[in-house]
Parts: sequence; C-alpha cells; structure tokens
Amino acid sequence: MSNIAYIPGDGIGEEVTRQGIKVLNYFNDLHQLGLKFEKFDLGAERYLKTGDILPDDVLNKLETFDAIYLGAVGDPRVEPGILEKGILLKLRFYFDQYINLRPIKLYKEEFCPLKGKKLQDIDFTVVRENTEGIYAGVGGFLKKDTPDEIATQEMISTRKGVDRIIKYAFEYAREFGKEPKLTVCDKSNVLTYAHNLWQRAFKEMGQNYQDVKQDHFLVDAITMKMVRNPEIFDVVVTCNIFGDIITDLGAEIQGGMGMAVSGNINPDSISMFEPVHGSAPDIAGQNIANPLAAVLAAAMMLRQLGESRLADQTEKAVVTALENNMITSDIGGELSTDQVGDYLVKTLKSNEEGE
Ligand code: NAD
Ligand code: IPM
Ligand code: MN
Repeated sequence: MSNIAYIPGDGIGEEVTRQGIKVLNYFNDLHQLGLKFEKFDLGAERYLKTGDILPDDVLNKLETFDAIYLGAVGDPRVEPGILEKGILLKLRFYFDQYINLRPIKLYKEEFCPLKGKKLQDIDFTVVRENTEGIYAGVGGFLKKDTPDEIATQEMISTRKGVDRIIKYAFEYAREFGKEPKLTVCDKSNVLTYAHNLWQRAFKEMGQNYQDVKQDHFLVDAITMKMVRNPEIFDVVVTCNIFGDIITDLGAEIQGGMGMAVSGNINPDSISMFEPVHGSAPDIAGQNIANPLAAVLAAAMMLRQLGESRLADQTEKAVVTALENNMITSDIGGELSTDQVGDYLVKTLKSNEEGE
C-alpha cells in the first residue's frame, strides 16, 4: 500500500495531473494496488485567500507519505518566486531530493524539430543536481533601490553534494546506459571555484567507473551539441541551473514541454514526480494542455513504487495515443486534455482484455 500526496497546484497543473490520476485510479481498481491519494490545495488560490504558502503542519503531514505527485506552481497574480521557491523548491530541499531525473526521449519522429533525427537519436537522461548551486538562495541586496544597488546570488557547491549526484549519475549510466557514457556539463572555464570542484569530483569519482565512458562539455557548447548531435549523449550530469535550462531545450527536441518528465528523487526518503513544464497561464482553463508529461510522470512514480510493469503499460498506452493521433493540438492532434486521459484509460483496458 502506498500513500500519495497529490498537489495539483496552479494553471494547467490541475488539468494535466487529473489525467495521471485517472490512469493511477484505473490500475488501483484493477490490481488492488492500495494506492491512497490525498489532495493538498497548495498554490496561488490558497496563497491569495489566506497568505499561506506551505505551512509547517502541511510539511509535517507530507512526511508521512510515500511519494508526491505534483502538477505545477506559479501564477501571474503572484510575484514570481513566491510560490516557486515557497512550494516547489522548498519541497525539493526539505525532502533532500538531490537527484532530478529528466529523461529526454523522442516518442515519434515527426515531433522532432531537428532534421533527419530518428527515435534512437534522441534518447538520453539528464541527471540534474537539485538541492544546491545557484538555487541555494544565498545572496541579497546592497543599497537596495538606490542607483548604486548591488544584487548578489551565490552558487554553492559542496563536495558532498557534488559527489553524491555524480556517483548517482555514474551508477545510473552503468545500470541503464545504452553504451554506458557519462557526460559532465559545467562552465569550469569561468566558474573557476564552483565548477572546478565539479571537475575534480568528476575525475576522482570516474576512477571507480572505468567501464563507463567519460566526457565533458561546457554548457554553452552542450546546447549546440544537443541540437546538432543529440545522439552522442547517454547520461548527462550537471548543476541545478544548467540542468533547468538544458532540459527545456531537451523538451523541445522530444516534442515540446508537454512531453517532458521529471522525478525529484531521494532514494532514502520521499520522492516527487512532476512534468518539467510550468503552470502555462497562457493556455490554462481551456482543457487543451498536453497531459502526456504528467501521465508519464505518474508512470515514473509507479516505477519508483516498484510497479515497473504498470509503468511500462502506461508508456505503451502513450505510444498508442501518439500513433493514432489521439493527442492535443500542441503536438498536432485535436483532442482535449480530458479526452487524451480517457483515451489512455480506454487503451489500457483494451490492452488488458487482449492479454
Ligand atoms: P511553462 O512551462 O508554464 O510554459 C512555457 C510554454 O509551453 C507556454 O507557451 C505553454 O503554453 C507551453 N506549455 C507548457 N506546458 C504545456 C503542456 N502541457 N501542453 C501544451 N503546452 C504547454 O513556462 P513559463 O510560461 O515560463 O512559466 C509559467 C509559470 O509556471 C511561471 O509562474 C513559472 O514560474 C512556473 N513554472 C513552474 C514549474 C513547476 O511548477 N515545475 C516549472 C516551470 C515554470
Ligand atoms: C523546473 C522549474 C523550476 C526550476 C522553477 C519553477 C523553480 O523551472 O522544475 O524546471 O527552476 O527548477
Ligand atoms: Mn525549468
């Protein structure tokens, strides 16, 4: 039995995760998985009504769950950062979810904006450090609101923090790599403190993984390679901010923001699963958002909870939806968000009956 904390959040967060919940409920009823969901109304509405962002009693309660399933947070009515830092980053930090696993996988060739790329060309995983770097929140203002104002934002890399993410990435490459290769992405030519540490940590850890090919790109050059030669990547490990940026690029080469999945993992504690995209206020409330990233995030959560077979079945149903064009308009279909969710459940049912 697993208890899932469900945080739909803002904008399209609710619309897309509802489809993930449909799929999870279908499996739950069919296989008596004993999944129990509890919904938490964190996000803009609650904040605007009560001033609450993520109260301590909610945080304490979340500690009792086995996993968190999240939509997205952020709302144009709220100053940027309040909900993103106060909810999303706070959860990642509080549960020490130091691994942000972001697979970049092309499911259908025509989704790729790059010329001549095949499915196997775009199939790699970014392992993003998720608790340090420029996200640590260290910094501040000097002489605020004067012409001499200075704002600082420090990048924090600890040896323990960098070692543990690089170790995880090596292990991940060894276990799941096509031809195990780990690429480290940094800006060691400029960030001569923080990313010098990354360089040393990578080289030293690499000694223990001679069977895994090792490679390095500066972050500017990696964006070029991800567009021109994405096939050269297997697993990429990088710091928090670069991981954020390059995975939006990754999302586009796999078909757009509606396709990209993210797992915030702490192997010894509570992990949190979400789409890479945000609350998309430009399309919220219209029932047109692509729910596939949210559904695939639910599949990643199932895998984490030990239900790999059901995760595979979900991915297979997504592929069927893509093949039959039962998809939303961002990727060339005509269905609504809800209709895609219903189609996936229908597909799962007919696959089950066919077995
Ligand atoms: P976004 O990811 O919300 O949207 C970027 C673009 O992609 C938009 O044009 C949007 O319509 C489109 N898009 C995103 N998801 C889609 C989907 N499932 N289907 C179809 N189209 C989709 O990024 P943004 O506009 O920069 O940010 C909007 C808000 O979301 C901000 O408040 C931001 O802070 C927040 N945000 C939250 C998260 C999160 O909670 N994990 C992630 C990123 C951004
Ligand atoms: C993401 C988002 C978040 C990040 C924001 C909303 C804090 O962009 O999950 O990619 O920067 O990590
Ligand atoms: Mn992002």
